Amino acid sequence: MSPEFHYAFDNIPLPVLILDAKGHCEFVNRARLDFTGRRMQDELEWGWLEDVHPEDRATYVNSCRIACRTAAPVRMEYRLRYRDGSYRSVLESGRVLDEEGDPEPRILGVCTDVTDVRNFMEALTNSERRFRSLYECMSEVVALHRLIRDERGVPVDYRILDVNPAFERIIGFPRSRAIGSTASDLYGTGDAPYISVYAQVAETGQSFAFDTYYPPLRKHFRISVFSPEHDTFATVTSDITLWKEAEVRLAENYARLRGLFDSIVTAFSCIVEKRDPYTGGHQRRSAALAEAIAALLRVDDDTKESIRIAALLHDIGNVEIPSQILNKPGPLSEAEFEIVKTHPTAGFEILSGIEFPWPLAEIVLQHHERLDGSGYPTGLSGDSIRREAKILAVADVAEAMASHRPYRPAHDLDTVMRYFRETARDAFDPAVVSALGELRDNGLLGRILG
Ligand SMILES: [Fe+2]
Repeated sequence: MSPEFHYAFDNIPLPVLILDAKGHCEFVNRARLDFTGRRMQDELEWGWLEDVHPEDRATYVNSCRIACRTAAPVRMEYRLRYRDGSYRSVLESGRVLDEEGDPEPRILGVCTDVTDVRNFMEALTNSERRFRSLYECMSEVVALHRLIRDERGVPVDYRILDVNPAFERIIGFPRSRAIGSTASDLYGTGDAPYISVYAQVAETGQSFAFDTYYPPLRKHFRISVFSPEHDTFATVTSDITLWKEAEVRLAENYARLRGLFDSIVTAFSCIVEKRDPYTGGHQRRSAALAEAIAALLRVDDDTKESIRIAALLHDIGNVEIPSQILNKPGPLSEAEFEIVKTHPTAGFEILSGIEFPWPLAEIVLQHHERLDGSGYPTGLSGDSIRREAKILAVADVAEAMASHRPYRPAHDLDTVMRYFRETARDAFDPAVVSALGELRDNGLLGRILG
């Protein structure tokens, strides 16, 4: 080999070797030595072949022989030992050097490390296989479509490019008929189903999901739409018919149970009031007032409901108070009042045995507590009293004051408001009293208590 060729091959950054027809190595370049980690002498003395993976040696040698005989280019992939002992895939491009004056041909081989490409291709193939099997086996319908536009560019239809086997089972058309068809042709509808939604996704690239009832199939579907590229969109459709039907049944059952629950609460409320004919309707009106106050205070719906139910039952503990005390037409003695003061605790004990979704027992227990600590049964004050109980307390007292009693006439609403704003201003939550004032001003208080 001329010194120029030698210099050129030695500086090629890819491993190069030159073999003669008998398989002796004549030359390896620096890149080859760097790859295998061998010394030049080792390579020249059959080390070059030992670096070829044992399973690939025979094929490799055979290919070289054929190349020498036929002078055809060689292109083969085999495993070559890397300097760290691992094998890497190389693609060798070989060419016969038949220089003038050479007694026999030699082969020049240039290797390219294709391990990363090979690994990438394998990963890609495995990934594609996994996705394909997922696509084929999944219970949801997966479909790929392309928008069809009219001459003005307006989306009017879409063509079905591909569907998975679930399409046949759920939508009912053979795949062979679906693929390639337009939606309007396949479904036989004037407009392609959901064209406006699909067009928006295909144009903006913004994914979207919606539930729909499709009358021709009498099925409910949840459809997720996304766009892999402009004017193309894919849909993943789940049949949620059973789930929707169960949801409706659940809602019906809930409504029935809710009605039953309300009836039971009302019945309990009436039982309590039957024992005390002078305060008939007190809990019902307190509940309406407490609910109206809670609405003005923007209490969330769930808490508002807990206040309403607690108000309907807030005097349930009266069932343990002797009826001669409850029905006493005149003022109570101190001893009798001490007995009456046990009704929040008695109510708590009754209600805490029932698993309500709200803290009703706590609210009832605290409905006679006062902000300044003057209430009962515990003498709680400030924020240690639940907000629901603060609202109920105002509604309870306002209703009682505005109602007639055998031993006193009903107080007018101005007197009621004066009581809260002046006489007992430290006992009640100012925000709740302010809401009561608003109800007084807009006439609602009069209507509720009237
Ligand atoms: Fe009470």
